[in-house]
Amino acid sequence: MEVRYRGESGFALRDISFVLGEGEKAALVGANGAGKSTMLLALAGVLPYTGTIDYLNYTGINNAGSDYGEKRPGLVMQNPDDQLFMPTVAEDLAFGPRNFKTPEDEIAARTEKTLAALGIARLRDRLTSRLSGGEKRLAALAGILMMESPLLLLDEPSSFLDPRSRRRLLDLLRARSEAMLVATHDLDLARSLCDRVILLGGGTILADGGVRLLDDGVLLDAGAL
Ligand SMILES: Nc1ncnc2c1ncn2[C@@H]1O[C@H](COP(=O)(O)OP(=O)(O)OP(=O)(O)O)[C@@H](O)[C@H]1O
Ligand SMILES: [Mg+2]
Repeated sequence: MEVRYRGESGFALRDISFVLGEGEKAALVGANGAGKSTMLLALAGVLPYTGTIDYLNYTGINNAGSDYGEKRPGLVMQNPDDQLFMPTVAEDLAFGPRNFKTPEDEIAARTEKTLAALGIARLRDRLTSRLSGGEKRLAALAGILMMESPLLLLDEPSSFLDPRSRRRLLDLLRARSEAMLVATHDLDLARSLCDRVILLGGGTILADGGVRLLDDGVLLDAGAL
């Protein structure tokens, strides 16, 4: 897969090729500007790409891949302000499932379960625009968990979180069975959540292997981590 931003001469991503297994959790690491967010946006179908993406029974070729349907990958964006758009947290959580005609009682039950799992039941009726950075991050994540997608694309999930919320998030993600691709600078989170590390540098994969890669000084220097 390759990605080139409109109006740019160079590729933001090139020669990207990997397979993520069912339930596999991989950390996507690399310096600022390495291409982590670009990769998650392309995989989620938000950015046009060239190449092929196989996902469940869907094959996207040279397009924006936007038609994954109900089981589309769940993307939690780096900036939660880009994600939350309904007035209240409860409305935001209900928006996705409602789009896919999920029954209202099922939406209500899922909302309670998801808010409780993230420890944010108190935010249910708050205005999304008035939340703190960490609260927005957790609300955005809750909105994605509501969709029960088999693949979570998480962009810096622990940023803005206080230590307690970060631990709670880590425990929650560890306990879940979805496949995950987690772009992060939080290498401790990568170590305790993931079995695999994909190191990006200059828009391409520099290394792909076990979490012990995070202890490989030469490789990390190459990726400027
Ligand atoms: N909308 C855009 N138009 C043009 N270039 C872009 C755009 N968004 C990102 N880029 C460029 O693409 C490259 C990869 O950016 P990306 O945001 O994917 O990096 P990242 O690895 O997520 O970095 P960070 O750790 O800072 O979040 C960078 O050189 C960036 O400047
Ligand atoms: Mg990024």
